[in-house]
Amino acid sequence: MRYHHFEGQEAGQVYDWQLIKRLSKYLSPYKYYFISALALLFLTSSLGLVGPYLTKVAIDTYIQQQDTSGLDLIALLFLGVMLLEFVVRYAQIQLMQYTGQRVMQDLRAELFSHLQHMTPEFFDKRPVGGIMSRLIGDIEVLNEMVTSGVVSMLGDLFMLLGIMGALLWMDHELALVVFSVLPLIFYAAQVFRKRVRESFRQIRARMAKINAFLQENLGGMTIVQAFCRQQKNLEQFKQINGDYLDSYLKTVFYYALFFPAIEIMTALAMALIIWYGGGQVLQGALTFGVLIAFIEYTQRFFRPINDLSEKYNILQSAMAAAERVLNMLDTKPSISPPVKAENLEQFSKQIEFKHVCFAYNGAAYVLEDISFSVSKGESVALVGLTGAGKTSIISLLAHFYEPGQGQIVIDGYDIRKLDQQQWRSKISLVSQEPFLFSGDILSNIRLGREDISVASVMQAAREVNAHQFITQLPQGYYEPIRERGANLSAGQRQLITFARALVFDPQLLILDEATSSVDSQTETLIQDALEKLLRGRTSIVIAHRLSTIQRANKIIVLDKGKIMEQGSHQELLSNQGIYYWLHQLQFKA
Ligand SMILES: Nc1ncnc2c1ncn2[C@@H]1O[C@H](COP(=O)(O)OP(=O)(O)O)[C@@H](O)[C@H]1O
Ligand SMILES: [Mg+2]
Repeated sequence: MRYHHFEGQEAGQVYDWQLIKRLSKYLSPYKYYFISALALLFLTSSLGLVGPYLTKVAIDTYIQQQDTSGLDLIALLFLGVMLLEFVVRYAQIQLMQYTGQRVMQDLRAELFSHLQHMTPEFFDKRPVGGIMSRLIGDIEVLNEMVTSGVVSMLGDLFMLLGIMGALLWMDHELALVVFSVLPLIFYAAQVFRKRVRESFRQIRARMAKINAFLQENLGGMTIVQAFCRQQKNLEQFKQINGDYLDSYLKTVFYYALFFPAIEIMTALAMALIIWYGGGQVLQGALTFGVLIAFIEYTQRFFRPINDLSEKYNILQSAMAAAERVLNMLDTKPSISPPVKAENLEQFSKQIEFKHVCFAYNGAAYVLEDISFSVSKGESVALVGLTGAGKTSIISLLAHFYEPGQGQIVIDGYDIRKLDQQQWRSKISLVSQEPFLFSGDILSNIRLGREDISVASVMQAAREVNAHQFITQLPQGYYEPIRERGANLSAGQRQLITFARALVFDPQLLILDEATSSVDSQTETLIQDALEKLLRGRTSIVIAHRLSTIQRANKIIVLDKGKIMEQGSHQELLSNQGIYYWLHQLQFKA
């Protein structure tokens, strides 16, 4: 994934502002919560300033004057301020977390909805694990930014300014002495920020790699085991896992260096206060209370600086995360909807491929000069060896991709002019890899269309020979299906996808028969189901058993992306071309 498209600090900062601007758009529905939380934050910071000042008053006024009732009052006040700080902080955290979680909820939904509109090309290019990192990991980081990062940075900044003001107000000379340490601190913070920024970016990128790798390996575990790839894959994993560790340790290194460095500078500032301020006290130029207040303020002064750098990290990783999330949101589907869609109520005449050429991702053509037509009511079969381009033709027809050259015309309209949803609603697609969702069998057949009755689901299942095995399952149609249908056989999965195609009663049936081999009994069931499925329906079929397609009105023979022959079974046989040869091959077998 390309998110390293800017280099250098300057460009990064400009970009950050744009990011923040865009992110704040997501905050706007919750702006009152956010603003209230912010106000409470300033309040807690201000309350934090009160303590040392009360100490000063206690020492300089009441201890000096031996006024015990005054001391009581101060102690009570001190306690009261602490309690108030507790309550305000509680409310602030609640509000902030609520806001953050709501924003994340919105973002996740928007991202998911966006992904639903992406074409297969998008998913071809990206590992699922990487996309998951966006949806889960990156968005969580953004949440941290809303709830703790940016917001408390503002609080810290406010605290810093407040303390500086208090110090200057109490004694500007001593304040300047304390501030003399600041340039050192800013320099250290600057260096730290720069380094950590870089390594954080690296950490996220490497984490995404780990995610993608795990996703793939867990998904394909049986293959890994069957081919004894464990050792090899473990080595690969160790490699990327090690890379991740390296970049993490690099960050830790900067941390381990930075925080003690800040401690030393705090100590330096303290020493300066004791040395210079103590001298002033001895000369009577400064009260003892002010000296104590200075020491307390100074301790509180360096804490936010510490925090700021810590927060800076969160901010950095959040920026990187935001960049990736927004990039993903900005990725346009490679097929854009027509400006004004033609209305195709009913598929009623003909599908025509006119000199269609097609390549995946601008690579070499996998389809060249494909021309054929399918009239309503016709059944057309695509035949060819693996890799001939059969599935590609189907993908074009379902408008998952668009042809590089040539046209696909449906009832006189270019497919690009049709509303994608409307067109697909006329099609039932049985894809090469039968895909089942987790849920039960019933929901897998009607795919959430509650208007399809259970009775018609059963009717469809009966027609495609699925009813029998379904009713033999312990819970019948309500039998839960595990992820990707792991608890069913390949043949059973196939039959369920047939039932799904049938129950939608499509105007066009597209069927890419699975190549996975099934036992001969299931095969007979599938053959029989196929015949029923195709009867009297406009269909485009890829079937591996030539016996299935003998009755097709037209058979198109493909080889290496080109149409070699087309005609009826008899015509092609008498041609004695590729089809004849394939037929001989299967017949012998
Ligand atoms: N998503 C894809 N990205 C890139 N190339 C692909 C993709 N799908 C298929 N191909 C390539 O396109 C060619 C035709 O594939 P396909 O249409 O799936 O053939 P068939 O269904 O006839 O077996 C093959 O060479 C294959 O490698
Ligand atoms: Mg195929």
